[in-house]
Amino acid sequence: MKTILKIVFFIGIYCFYSCIKEVTTTTILSPNQKINVSFFLSENGEPQYKITHKSKTVIDTSALGFDLKDVPSLAKNFKIIKTKTNSTDETWKMPWGEQETVRNHYNELTIELQEKNTLARKLNIVFKVYDDGVGFRYEFPKQEQLKEVIIVDENTQFQLTDDHTTWWIPGDWDIYEHLYTTSKVSEIDALSKVNHESLAQTYIPENAVNTPVTMKTADGLHISFHEAALIDYSGMTLKVDTENLLLQSELVGSERTDYKVKRTTPFTTPWRTIQITEKATELIDSKLIVNLNEPSKIADISWFTPMKYTGIWWEMHLGKSSWDKASGKHGATTENAKAFIDFSAKNNIKGVLVEGWNTGWEHWIGFEDREGVFDFITPYDDYDLHEVVRYAKEKGVEIIMHHETSAAIGTYDKQMDKAYQLMKDLEIHSVKSGYVGKIIPKGEYHHGQWMVNHYNNAAIKAAEYEVAVNAHEPIKATGLRRTYPNIISREGLRGQEFNAWAADGGNPPEHLPIVAFTRMLAGPIDYTPGIFNIKLTPYKETNQVNTTIAQQLALYVVIYSPIQMAADLIENYEGNPALQFIRDVGVDWKQTKVLNGEVGDFVTIAREERNTGNWFLGSITDENPRNLEVSLTFLEPNTTYTATIYKDGKEAHWDKNPTAIEIEHMEVTSTTKITLKLAAGGGTAISFIKK
Ligand code: NOJ
Ligand code: CA
Repeated sequence: MKTILKIVFFIGIYCFYSCIKEVTTTTILSPNQKINVSFFLSENGEPQYKITHKSKTVIDTSALGFDLKDVPSLAKNFKIIKTKTNSTDETWKMPWGEQETVRNHYNELTIELQEKNTLARKLNIVFKVYDDGVGFRYEFPKQEQLKEVIIVDENTQFQLTDDHTTWWIPGDWDIYEHLYTTSKVSEIDALSKVNHESLAQTYIPENAVNTPVTMKTADGLHISFHEAALIDYSGMTLKVDTENLLLQSELVGSERTDYKVKRTTPFTTPWRTIQITEKATELIDSKLIVNLNEPSKIADISWFTPMKYTGIWWEMHLGKSSWDKASGKHGATTENAKAFIDFSAKNNIKGVLVEGWNTGWEHWIGFEDREGVFDFITPYDDYDLHEVVRYAKEKGVEIIMHHETSAAIGTYDKQMDKAYQLMKDLEIHSVKSGYVGKIIPKGEYHHGQWMVNHYNNAAIKAAEYEVAVNAHEPIKATGLRRTYPNIISREGLRGQEFNAWAADGGNPPEHLPIVAFTRMLAGPIDYTPGIFNIKLTPYKETNQVNTTIAQQLALYVVIYSPIQMAADLIENYEGNPALQFIRDVGVDWKQTKVLNGEVGDFVTIAREERNTGNWFLGSITDENPRNLEVSLTFLEPNTTYTATIYKDGKEAHWDKNPTAIEIEHMEVTSTTKITLKLAAGGGTAISFIKK
């Protein structure tokens, strides 16, 4: 194979017995030959790798290996027993997504290693090299010498070559709901983020970051670290050695065990991924993470279709109503649900989420003894579940189920079959689940192996009942939506809700221009955009959304999810002409074009809706106003579209004047150029409807 080079050279190293040691370097190139991965064994047989991009080192010599419980580490004394190469160029179809088809094009290298000592344990390392980065993982083959593998830690290194600018959140073992910090690698201080007063759980034991973590080099190269196909393993944080600019895997642990992962051979670890692109926008284009997952295991997924939804939700976060009935202001009443059903039906929105419908909420946040409290079958007596579902059907609307587990896993596990069966009987095909609070059993963390298995098994079981899952306080997205498309979306970041109650003033204007190049690389986000009443009056005096209203519209296009909430209260939508964009905007895309963007500054994305050929554009900026010129070359040639432009008003500003919006109509073709004028914390949303 011409793209895969194997170089063997001999270096004379005189050891005590004046023998000569052989150092073998095996190299594999990306299909376009720009990325080069070399694998070699050090003098003492330690597996190491190095990555270059256009001959420049991106990851310098980095070690690979494991510390195991009660037995010697799997780290050195290896010899190569075999290497294999392979190339793949295939295309697969997303049932829904940012695009209809995905090209999976890579060169692959498998290195089979065996220890030279009497233990003679075997370990394989597999690299897949794409034009936009590298994925590699460990394979533990079936072997007599190593049946049960108890991993105390995985020691995968990523040796950086310089003090890159980094967009990071702390390596919290319980939650990803942190603000991003922009700093040099040498300045990463995750431990300073430990006390987070708005969160019911958070644990940060090391100076480590969670992934995706994105960096920009002095030469303008973009690098993002994450993982793919996280199955029956712990989530990986990256420990930061600020002096040596070295990242090293630090798996999430458990207080109930003295190890991080327990498996039986044969098994494979998740892929460790490094997306490497010249432009920031190409990080969003990259499908490397989802490509590294197995094809779909769900034969028929036609029971779910992407949708917009409204719901009984924001009103609780504002304090207008409550989840629990004892409060005297219960939100989930039959009457309120019907009002949302009517509103959705009138406005081309298919779903309605109802939170607080089931008993147990009186004993939710702040209680230690949460097992046996929530009931996922029994509605409060002012909520007639069957009547609501009947009414919704009559109006062509679908109810979205809600299961707040309060992280009391035993209780949820026990009721799961019954709860999903109830949904199946009612023909409810999606659930929003929640995991607020410290995990019960005590000692487990949200991102450890035990919980990874819970999240995955819940989704697999849900699929048996034709239920799609949108988890909040989830495990990170790692592209498993390819294998289990019913994992439709998730939270896993500081969502819109923080704007309603966070003591620190909510998500700053730069939050989403960072999220688009970090968290969004992992997969779909249930951010819940569309807040029109930016200042949250009269409910919240000291909180607000820190964007303009036009940016709230742009988020339907910028932030990808097959479910998109129109999150505000009905009364804030009624009569506002900007609602037309939410009515029109698609949720399922044939193709996506990232037109411009820089991490933390701005991003503009255009997406073509499947089946209609209509296009939608969203552009957002941080706290800086800016003008961006875009050419509409993505539109079908020789076709006229009616463009409706929802832009920041002249004096718009995320804080001083967030609701100033102008709506303009014009006819455009693929030769038209337009200048987007974004206010501070602002945005533009455009619908292009074919004439
Ligand atoms: C946290 C979720 O992120 C939020 O959306 C939900 O309303 C509450 N938990 C209650 O389940
Ligand atoms: Ca949350």
